Amino acid sequence: MAQPSQVLPLQGGKVEVGETQEGNGTRPLLDIRGIDQELVEKIEYDALVWSSLHGLVVGDKSVQRSGKVPGVGMVHAPFALLPMPFPESHWKQACELAPIFNELVDRVSLDAKFLQDSLSRTKKADAFTSRLLDIHSKMVEINKKEDIRLGLLRSDYMVDEQTKLLLQIETNTISCSFPGLGCLVSDLHRSLLNHYGEFLALDSKRVPNNPAASQFVEALAKAWTEYNNPRAVVMLVVQADERNMYDQHWLSALLKEIHNVSTLRKTLAEIDAEGELLPDGTLVVGGQAIAVVYFRAGYTPNDYPSESEWRARLLMEQSSAIKCPSISYHLAGTKKIQQELVKPNVLERFVDNKEDIAKLRKCFAGLWSLDDSDIVKDAIERPGLYVMKPQREGGGNNIYGNDVREALMRLQKEGSEADAAYILMQRIFPTVSHTFLMRNGICYKDDTVSELGIYGAYLRNKEKVILNDQCGYLMRTKASSSDEGGVAAGFAVLDSLYLT
Ligand SMILES: Nc1ncnc2c1ncn2[C@@H]1O[C@H](COP(=O)(O)OP(=O)(O)OP(=O)(O)O)[C@@H](O)[C@H]1O
Ligand SMILES: [Mg+2]
Repeated sequence: MAQPSQVLPLQGGKVEVGETQEGNGTRPLLDIRGIDQELVEKIEYDALVWSSLHGLVVGDKSVQRSGKVPGVGMVHAPFALLPMPFPESHWKQACELAPIFNELVDRVSLDAKFLQDSLSRTKKADAFTSRLLDIHSKMVEINKKEDIRLGLLRSDYMVDEQTKLLLQIETNTISCSFPGLGCLVSDLHRSLLNHYGEFLALDSKRVPNNPAASQFVEALAKAWTEYNNPRAVVMLVVQADERNMYDQHWLSALLKEIHNVSTLRKTLAEIDAEGELLPDGTLVVGGQAIAVVYFRAGYTPNDYPSESEWRARLLMEQSSAIKCPSISYHLAGTKKIQQELVKPNVLERFVDNKEDIAKLRKCFAGLWSLDDSDIVKDAIERPGLYVMKPQREGGGNNIYGNDVREALMRLQKEGSEADAAYILMQRIFPTVSHTFLMRNGICYKDDTVSELGIYGAYLRNKEKVILNDQCGYLMRTKASSSDEGGVAAGFAVLDSLYLT
């Protein structure tokens, strides 16, 4: 292992500290072009060792069984070698927004008519949303009440370079990834800075603590306690082939170790085959009573290849188990609902506190439906300024650049209801910085942009709010030439932040 004494300190002036971001411009805090190559190689080596020793790993796609059998074919998760400079004021702003978004999602989820009405045109154009709405309608018909509601959410943001505004990309209400691995990256970066910080002129204390995994686990444990059946377990709904399984296993392991709560991993098909509802509403899967259903699958149409998976989803929704998310929370996180909430006077229906409304509005980017003909016209003329989004999760589905123009013109020509499947969003242009990205043991230098996700946990039982917290963060960094941002989808790497 490289010792600090073996590496040469940087030449004065090559590393720029404590500058810019909010101040006089856009020069990066840490100009990696100035870092000595030998030093970089030592940091890389230590980082690779650290991630292997600490479980910062994913399944290796070149190993066939790596998504099925734990311990087979592991590779370090893609990560940024050093934390990304980020203004402290924006960090605080994003953290403050977390409980407000948590509460907003809960309030929206309770308004069945708002959800159904807002998504009524989308329902005709998008088969997946339509199936989700059908389940929701069935629950409305039988007057199903969710007294105990658990949200494990993540709101994603980018800082727009020109206006310096922190703008929200979206709130995810289902299967928010990387609470397990994201906090390890913060630990990794702190460890590297403890070791090499003086050579880089960086202080490990500027990397904020990231308790995402332990706080998500605490929320799951508290929900389990509210359910009040000591023999029941937490069930993770998972994909059959999941290379990001260690992110999930971290949560299961902590749940067991810290709270002595057991978990079960089941696919939707297995739940259909092994699941049943007892007369009192208890969900039993493979003979085990389920207290909490935690979805890490079920957010994409690919997860429902047959009717079997839809039956499983309905079965769980009908049960008394706590669903994370319930069908209402899932729908409240759709892009169409995000766009509806931005319209004048809509937030006021769900949020009482005027200051909270102002804080939410401040982070809203422009969002429009495709029946706004002026915006569609502008997007055809200037497609680079917009992102076109269908009602999908998991990355890789959005439309950018000239494809926006083509898609809009095609929809106009067809003249059908198909346009209701999409929304348009203002494209955000974050500051570009030069970064070291680690993938598959190789270090790449690239121009990158970053996106900050803030996790939130919300738990209530009837009128009692048990938890409403911000719980750690996820920084994702990607090549600025890439439109999409998903880590698992192969676009981005995991990162942490360095407060400036
Ligand atoms: N308005 C925007 N401006 C710039 N980039 C954007 C915008 N909206 C989305 N992106 C980029 O595309 C990525 C995916 O967008 P979005 O989060 O809307 O889709 P998703 O499929 O729900 O992804 P995820 O799985 O991360 O939730 C984002 O992480 C971000 O990098
Ligand atoms: Mg999403």
